[in-house]
Parts: sequence; structure tokens; C-alpha cells
Amino acid sequence: MDPVRVPQKYPGKRHFKGPHKGEYSANPLGKNPGDVWIIPNVKHNHPEKTVHPCQFPVELVERLVLALTRRGDLVLDPYMGVGTTPAAAVVHGRRAAGAEIVPEYVKIARERVAQAVSGTLPARPRSRPVYVPSPNSPLVKRS
Ligand SMILES: C[S@@+](CC[C@H](N)C(=O)[O-])C[C@H]1O[C@@H](n2cnc3c(N)ncnc32)[C@H](O)[C@@H]1O
Repeated sequence: MDPVRVPQKYPGKRHFKGPHKGEYSANPLGKNPGDVWIIPNVKHNHPEKTVHPCQFPVELVERLVLALTRRGDLVLDPYMGVGTTPAAAVVHGRRAAGAEIVPEYVKIARERVAQAVSGTLPARPRSRPVYVPSPNSPLVKRS
């Protein structure tokens, strides 16, 4: 769990009474990411965007790799597209394998894995907050 914890809504909250008074009331490393993961999809000017029309965000694969595998494990994506899964696996010290039917995507996947190895893979920072439009934004539907 620890590698995929996310910040709590009220970090640093402590018990205010009882035998644990003064101690942290939640894990200081963060909370369980839960069942609903809010991760922006890859489109338009997203830093990870390639020519692939339905590319995974690196962060999505990273969370799965970190939660479900150990360093040195082999991560396989038989429909790897432009290689998001192998790239994210390699970033975290896993081995990776993939298959893809479109040669152009395989070429990009190889380039992205090489970037992952050299530490230059473009990726949206995991710490960047997800944009939430203000209640007055024209993007927010009012009833
Ligand atoms: C949803 S996309 C995967 C995108 C990928 N997760 C990424 O981030 O780039 C599915 C991919 O499977 C590939 N595909 C479809 N049939 C395939 C097959 N029989 N063997 C290998 N790849 C295939 C498609 O070309 C497509 O790129």
C-alpha cells in the first residue's frame, strides 16, 4: 500500500481525546487511493500525448505496477499501444514485455521505454492536482 498512498483531505489530523490523544489519527504517509481513481486522460496538450488515439496515462499504470508487483517482476501488456505499460514498469525497476500490431506504435513504444530507462520519459507529475473548474466556470453545468 505505501507506494501508492495519496494525500489525506486533512493531513496531520490527530486524535483529540481517548488513549491515543495527540497521536496521528490516520497514516502520516497518506491514505488508500480507494476505488475511484481521478487521473486525467491523455489528450490535446497533455505532456504524454503521442499519435495514439487512446493512450493510457503513465500515472494509471504506475499505480498498478507499484501496488501489484515487486522490483524485478515481469510486467506484460499484450496490447501495449505506444508502450505506456512497459515504460511505467521500467521506471519502477520492473522488467517489461509487450505486443502491438501497429508498427508505428511499436516504434514509439521502443522510444518511450528508452526514455524511461534514461529518466527522460515525459510524464504528468503525480503530485500535480487535478484541475477542478470553479463553480462560476462556464464549464460547470447549472440546473
Ligand atoms: C487501447 S490500445 C492500448 C493503448 C496503450 N495502453 C497505450 O497506453 O498506448 C489497444 C492496442 O491494442 C492493439 N491491438 C489490437 N489488436 C491487437 C493484436 N491482435 N495484437 C497486438 N496488438 C493489438 C491496437 O493497435 C491498440 O494500439
